[in-house]
This record gives sequence, C-alpha cells and structure tokens, in this order.
Amino acid sequence: MSAIFNFCAGPAMLPTAVMQKAQKELLNWNDQGVSVMEVSHRSKEFIALTEQAESDLRQLMDIPSNYHVLFMHGGGRGQFSAVVNNFLGNDGKALYLVDGSWSKAAAEEAEKLAGKQNIDTLQIVQSVGGLNQVNLPDLNLIDKDYRYVHYCPNETVDGIEIFESINSPWPVIADMSSNILSRKIDVSQFGLIYAGAQKNIGPSGLSIVIVRDDLLALPSLPQSSIMDYRLAVENDSMYNTPPTFAWYLAAEVFSWLKQVGGVAEMEKLNIEKAKRLYQCIDELDFYLSGVAKENRSRMNVTFQLTNSELDSQFLAEAQAAGLVALKGHRSVGGMRASIYNAMPLEGVDTLVEFMKAFAAKHS
Ligand SMILES: Cc1ncc(COP(=O)(O)O)c(C=O)c1O
Repeated sequence: MSAIFNFCAGPAMLPTAVMQKAQKELLNWNDQGVSVMEVSHRSKEFIALTEQAESDLRQLMDIPSNYHVLFMHGGGRGQFSAVVNNFLGNDGKALYLVDGSWSKAAAEEAEKLAGKQNIDTLQIVQSVGGLNQVNLPDLNLIDKDYRYVHYCPNETVDGIEIFESINSPWPVIADMSSNILSRKIDVSQFGLIYAGAQKNIGPSGLSIVIVRDDLLALPSLPQSSIMDYRLAVENDSMYNTPPTFAWYLAAEVFSWLKQVGGVAEMEKLNIEKAKRLYQCIDELDFYLSGVAKENRSRMNVTFQLTNSELDSQFLAEAQAAGLVALKGHRSVGGMRASIYNAMPLEGVDTLVEFMKAFAAKHS
C-alpha cells in the first residue's frame, strides 16, 4: 500500500514509530509473555510505566512540583463536568470564555450542572472583515468573584487558536485537548489544564489533568468517585482500573517526543507545517481561510474551496491520492487538515502539492 496521510481531527494519527513499537510488543510486553492489556495495573512493571510516563510529561511540559498529573477516564467532555463538580460546590460561580464549538459545549455542560445563574459566558470571537478574530477582554476589569475562568486555547472545529496568555485574577482552566504538547506553554499560568488524549497523546477515552494543588481545597459537590480529583490524587490515578492500554501508548508517545527533541522541536516543526499550508491557501484564489492570521490554528487548518460545488470532488481526489479525513466538521462544512505532532512535514507537503494541482486542474 502506498503512503497514507491521515488528517483526522481525532482520534488522530499517532507517531508511526510508536505504533510500530506497540505492534511489536503487543503480545509480549516487557518480556512477560503477555500483553500490557493483560497485566495488573498494580503490578510493579505497570507502576514503573506510569511513573515513567508522569516523569516524562513533567519534563516535556516543565510542570512545577506543586501541580499533580492525573490520568483519568472520560476524554475531554468528562472534564467539562469534572471541573464544575470539583470546584464549584453549592454556590460557586465561574466564567466561560467562548471562542468556538468546544468552549461553548463546556459552558453548556457547566450551566446544566451548576445552574445558569452560576455560569457567566463571554463571547470572545468577532468577525472582522469576514474573518474570525479573538478579542480578549481585560478580565481584571470585571468586578466579580469567580472560582475560575475556563477557555479553550485551540478550537478544533473552528480552526481558531489563542496564542496570548490569559491574564486573570482567578485560576485559569484550559481545555488543551487539541494543542497540548504542540508548543511551549508556561504551566504556572494555569490553575488546571486538561486534554482528551486522542490528538497529541494517544487513544481516546483517556484524559490528562494537570492541576495546581491549592485548587483541590475548593469545595466540591457529591459526584462520581472516578471523576473526583482528590481521590485521583490520593490513589495515583488508580481509584478504579485505569485505561491501561491508553496509558501505555501515552507513555510511548511521551518517550517518542523526548527522542525527537521535545516540545521545542515540535513547536518549530508545527510552525513550519502550518506556514506551508496557510501559504498555499493564501496564494491561490481557489481556497479561503475564515480565520484572522493571528488566530489561525497550527493544529487544525480549516479552509473552504471558493467554489463549494467542488467539495466532494476535492475530497474524493484527495482520498485517491492517499490524503484522508480532510472533510470539515459537519457543523461548519468546508475542509479541515488536522496536523498534530505526529503528522510529518512530508504529509503537509504532499497535501500542498495536491491542492495546487487540484486548483490548476479546476480553475
Ligand atoms: C478541544 C476539544 N475539547 C473537548 C473535546 C471532547 O473530547 P472527547 O470526545 O474526548 O470527550 C474535543 C474533541 O474533539 C476537543 O477537540
């Protein structure tokens, strides 16, 4: 089979080297004669894996020692409810910044659990000259007492990324499901970071939570024990049986990231990949980006064909050329190329060549 480049937004492609290693040791992990899926999560070998995974992630993201790293169930959406139940207690209020579909969904879940009266939302994307642009308000001017402010620095569906940091008087909670580990960030600016694993970390279902220890003193609501951060901390993320295979693959991805130069090297590569793709979109009248330059996502490149009647032909020809999963999210249409850490430069170059040839053929 010739090379396939998979631009799926999630579950997304994983690094080929990681998949090959996992394939090689699928039936015999760590010389034990059984798969990693078949050993106790409390065995010393598996505990060693989890310790290595945490230490690698701490090193990759430079996580300060007053933050806990949790490996939890329930993906990104599981955390939409977990943050509310863990931090709002009976009467706490929170502010949700809305910059696209996922932050809106997080706000809706919070309203459902905490009541609309306790959740304020602020729309921070404006259309300027037909392009979506983020306009961050000065949160220090808001005279309210919130337990936290929540936002999504990379909106996977809309292709919008926020590169500025959020200057806030309250702890900042970020849904980094689609851009964690893609660029350097200062963890100490956040109260809590969470990410569903299925883009830059590993298989879906697993979520990573990085939480500052003082937030754990906030009042929580009675809730499902497996989503309780305090129990997760006390039990080293093993209050119940964790998703062991997903944890193993995440550990392998962290190890791969270290081998290829860590987050700094990834960031350089991600800048280059996004630059080449947006340059192609900008240079050809055939394609359009709906996002202002300063907020264009490096992970999810959304674009339209100026003649949308050619959409299905574009997708069919791309698929035939081995470029798969380029269809935009059903809520926004158009195209989306998700180019997470695992996507090699060669995949982006092949897509750019295809887009140029398709435009030449159909102009
Ligand atoms: C930014 C963001 N947040 C949350 C989610 C929801 O994740 P999950 O499907 O794991 O619940 C997604 C899924 O793609 C996402 O992209």
